[in-house]
Amino acid sequence: MTHFTPEAAEIEKNKEVVAGMHTMASEAVDLFLVQAETAWQPSDFLPQMNSPEAIHSIKELQARAAGLPPEVITSLVGNMITEEALPSYTTYFNLIKGVNEEGSMASEKGWAKWSRRWTAEENRHGDLLNKYLYLSGRADMRQVEITIHNLLANGFDPRTGGDPYQAFVYTSFQERATKISHVNTGKLADRGGDAVLSKICKTIAGDEARHEKAYKTFMAKIFEIDPNGALLAFEKMMKKQIAMPAILMDNSPADNLFTRFSAITQKTGIYTTFDYAAIIKHLTQLWKVETLTGLSGYAARAQEYLSNLAERYRRIAERMKEPEVVKLAWLVQ
Ligand SMILES: [Fe+2]
Ligand SMILES: [Fe+2]
Repeated sequence: MTHFTPEAAEIEKNKEVVAGMHTMASEAVDLFLVQAETAWQPSDFLPQMNSPEAIHSIKELQARAAGLPPEVITSLVGNMITEEALPSYTTYFNLIKGVNEEGSMASEKGWAKWSRRWTAEENRHGDLLNKYLYLSGRADMRQVEITIHNLLANGFDPRTGGDPYQAFVYTSFQERATKISHVNTGKLADRGGDAVLSKICKTIAGDEARHEKAYKTFMAKIFEIDPNGALLAFEKMMKKQIAMPAILMDNSPADNLFTRFSAITQKTGIYTTFDYAAIIKHLTQLWKVETLTGLSGYAARAQEYLSNLAERYRRIAERMKEPEVVKLAWLVQ
C-alpha cells in the first residue's frame, strides 16, 4: 500500500482532476486557437526580402526604429528573449501532472494537442520580434543571442511545486502579464513614431489575450470541480509570488540582466507592481474567490488571504520608489 504525505495526496487528487479535463482541452483548441494558414505570420510585418524594394523597406524600418527611446529597445529585447525560451515552456507544460501521462509529443489526447497548438502560436512571437530587432540595427544581437542561449541552458522554474493547479494559476497570471507588457510596449512604440512596431506589439498582445482567456477558463473549471483545492493552490502560488518566465536569463548575480530588465519595465510603465496588483484583483474577481461558500478551514483561510492580497500589493506599489538610474542592456554601443 502506498502512503502519501498530505501534500502528495493533494497533488495526486489535483492530477486526477486535470487528467479528467482532456475533452475540455480538446474543445479549447478549436475555441481559442487559430489555424496556421489563416493566422498572421511574422513575414506579414517584415520587409519582403524577395522584392526589389527589400533594401528600401529595411531602410524605412531602420528610420522608424531610430526614433525609439533606448528604454523601449531594452524592454522589447527582454520581451523577445522571454518569448524565445519557448522550448522550456513546451517542456514544462508537458511535464504538468495529468497533462501528458503517455509521454508522447504526438499524442492526440486533449492536453497534448493543446500544448502543441498553443506553443505553435507562441513560436511566432519570438520569431517576429527577433527578426524585427535584427533588422532595426538598434540591438547588439550577439549579446541578445548569448542571453537567449543562457536562458535556454538555465531552464525555467515557475515554482509550481509539481502541482497542476498551481501551474494553471501561473499560466493564467503569466499570459495576462505578457499581454499587458506587449500592449504597453506597443503604446511606447507609437509614441516613439514606429507605427509598424506598435502594430506588431498589439498583434502579439492579441494572441496573449486569447491564451489568457483559455487558461483562465481551465482554472475556472478547476474552481468549479474542486473549490477547496483551487483556493489552496492559488494561495500557495501567490505566497511564492509569480516570477517572470525569463528570470534565469543571466548567470551573473552582481550585474544581473534580468534585474535590469525588470527595473526598466517598472520605470517605463511597461510592467509594474501596479499591474501585478491589478492582475491579482482581476483573477480573484473572475474566479469569485471572495464569495465561495461551504469551504474547508484551510480553504477559508486561503480565501481571506487572497481577498486582501490585491490591495496589499497596490499599497506596496504606491510606496515603491521609482528606480532612478537604470543601466540599459543589449543596446548597440
Ligand atoms: Fe507569447
Ligand atoms: Fe503567451
